[in-house]
Amino acid sequence: MRVTIRLILSLILAAAAVVFISTGFQARQEQERLEEELARRAAVLADSLQESVEPLAAGGNLEGLQRLVQRFGARERLAGIAVYTNDGRPLAVTQSLPSTFHSPHDMVRDVMEDGEGQGLFLTDESKRWHLQVLPIRWAEHIIGAIAIVHDAGYIDAQRDRLWRQNFIRLLFHVLVISLTTLLIVQWNLLRPLSKTIEWMRHLRRGELAEHDTLPKGDVFAPLAREVTHMAKSLTAARAAAETEAKLRHAAESRWTADRLKEHLRKALNGRPLLLIANREPYMHIRQGRQIRWIMPASGLVTAVEPILRACGGTWIAHGAGDADRETADASGRLRVPPETPLYTLRRLWLTKEEEDGYYYGFANEGLWPLCHIAHTRPIFRAEDWQRYADVNAKFAQAALEELEDTEHPCVLIQDYHFALLPRLIKVKRPDAQIALFWHIPWPNPEAFGICPWADILLHGMLGADLIGFHTQFHCNNFLDTGDRLLESRIDWEQFAVNRAGHSTWVKPFPISIAAPEISGEISKDKFLKELGLTVQWVGVGVDRIDYTKGMTERFRAIERFLERHAEFQGQFTFIQLGAPSRTVIKRYHDLGAELDAEAERINRRFQTRQWKPILFLKKHHSQEEIAPFYRAADVCLVTSLHDGMNLVAKEFVAARADLRGSLVLSRFAGASRELREALLVNPYDIEETAEAIYAALTMSPEEQQRRMERMRWTVQEHNVYRWAANLVTELTRLQPAQEHVAAST
Ligand code: F6P
Repeated sequence: MRVTIRLILSLILAAAAVVFISTGFQARQEQERLEEELARRAAVLADSLQESVEPLAAGGNLEGLQRLVQRFGARERLAGIAVYTNDGRPLAVTQSLPSTFHSPHDMVRDVMEDGEGQGLFLTDESKRWHLQVLPIRWAEHIIGAIAIVHDAGYIDAQRDRLWRQNFIRLLFHVLVISLTTLLIVQWNLLRPLSKTIEWMRHLRRGELAEHDTLPKGDVFAPLAREVTHMAKSLTAARAAAETEAKLRHAAESRWTADRLKEHLRKALNGRPLLLIANREPYMHIRQGRQIRWIMPASGLVTAVEPILRACGGTWIAHGAGDADRETADASGRLRVPPETPLYTLRRLWLTKEEEDGYYYGFANEGLWPLCHIAHTRPIFRAEDWQRYADVNAKFAQAALEELEDTEHPCVLIQDYHFALLPRLIKVKRPDAQIALFWHIPWPNPEAFGICPWADILLHGMLGADLIGFHTQFHCNNFLDTGDRLLESRIDWEQFAVNRAGHSTWVKPFPISIAAPEISGEISKDKFLKELGLTVQWVGVGVDRIDYTKGMTERFRAIERFLERHAEFQGQFTFIQLGAPSRTVIKRYHDLGAELDAEAERINRRFQTRQWKPILFLKKHHSQEEIAPFYRAADVCLVTSLHDGMNLVAKEFVAARADLRGSLVLSRFAGASRELREALLVNPYDIEETAEAIYAALTMSPEEQQRRMERMRWTVQEHNVYRWAANLVTELTRLQPAQEHVAAST
């Protein structure tokens, strides 16, 4: 309050000073203007009297003279007129002339001596007068003078009125300023401040509820950002401590970030960790004039990022954001996560031609459909293949730079973008231990064999010491492929490929998520209301818009479900969150339009005024934005036609601390090997999926709980920290190879 009073007083003083100075200036100008006007009027009057007075005075016509002055003397603000002889005797005087002027003023004598008329303001008996004197002449001689006296008091009165008016205006300003200041301070400072204090108090006590949000607005935006980061770290630290405590209590062996850190410290024993993935974990993008960062929609990023957070190291990736260059140093490096830096991200810059050929072309129009059997034909172009090889060489160069001055480094290469990279690194750095993790399925040898460069890809991959897939089935396919397409020896007991004296172990490592404990509750009703939904049941799907995800089949299964179970019409809405992906590729671009049309068709078929069955939200959603959808859903649909793992299934399970909700899961997603309690479906079988949705929505709460408990146990036990620990432990257990590794294909 004291600050408010000080603020108001300062504003009032400033306003008063401005009013005082400007009124003084204005009053002086007004006075000068009125005085000039009066002097001019008096001079004109004197001139016009002079002509009539002179003959009357010279002829001694005193009566005529008196009548004349009396007639002129009746004018506004004129106090009186006197005509004097040259020895100072009054010849004619108006009755109204103040007595002071009955005998002539000194100026009258001066005027008669100089022969020039004069005007003067003078004060007498606290009144202001204006005296104008003009000589009267006859036959070249000065025979007397005319004195004209005006009452100048109205000029002072006018000045005083101006001061009074401006003083009243000042009072009004003071009132308005005080009220406005009070309102501004109250609404923009005090209220948000007390809300922030309340929020921080709740945070400190761990009582933060869903509806407790930080105030938004310009003044508090930077503070809110900082405090939110601090709060997140605090919540994470608290959650980690609680988890540790629980684990200690239950004597369990669950993997956490801290445990992984400790484990990898021992396993790596000072050896540096280098991770190479096409996709970067933090992408800087322009939004209007602002630059902000996002985490791209990528299962790989979701899974691998916690490892780097836990252990530090360097992640090399393609800098694909339109503001990536401005936010990195000259060598493309920056520390991330942006709010609490823990490891280094090194961005590599690719030309448009490189990106088109390597990423969109060979990786995503060739290898992606080749490995996912989803009935989209792979396209192989020689130019794309050349770019793919060039970009692999570029990443190899960057990796070798990062590995300079290190010994026996551990290199984790991610995914199908870098099949050639393991060998490119290994030939230069035989001491490096290299793992390649393939995040997508591996097909059978016949399917893979159609790639014109299948043998070169396999040779490149076999430069790694360890190759990981999500499932044993994919490992077997890979070993079969190596057996058929390359000159190599397969050790089916050890699951290894031996080629030219170098062994590569091939093992399953089912990837997962960090599976954090999520606390707090959301109000489903409130959340649905915000989305404009009034239904009783909701389903959710969260995907990159990709033809492998079976989204068209999913929409059709929803249509069939509503046909077969009409009682759910008006009561069930399916929300599809779809992140646009690889839209430069025609198949992906067309798919977006296909899905829009399909959702539209189904909606038109069933919708009423207040309800439609499918809500298709086509945009990138952050993890924080997705969480409430998972937690509000009665059923989550994961209907991939083919998927290496699918982490959405695991994220949904991890989000359901309330042990409610059901998961409908494709049997062709790697996750179906672990999440056995989900309702498993063949996504191509629309009838089966429709019935699974019905079973999910009519499942008893006890049954939901039973299934959810077991799935949650699986996800929490087999989290990404365990995955990382297994992968790195397996890699470091292999003897560092020093043998010569063939570079030739
Ligand atoms: O599944 C393979 C994969 O690399 C995932 O790790 C990830 O979810 C997805 O593809 C991302 O695709 P992109 O990086 O091309 O957007």
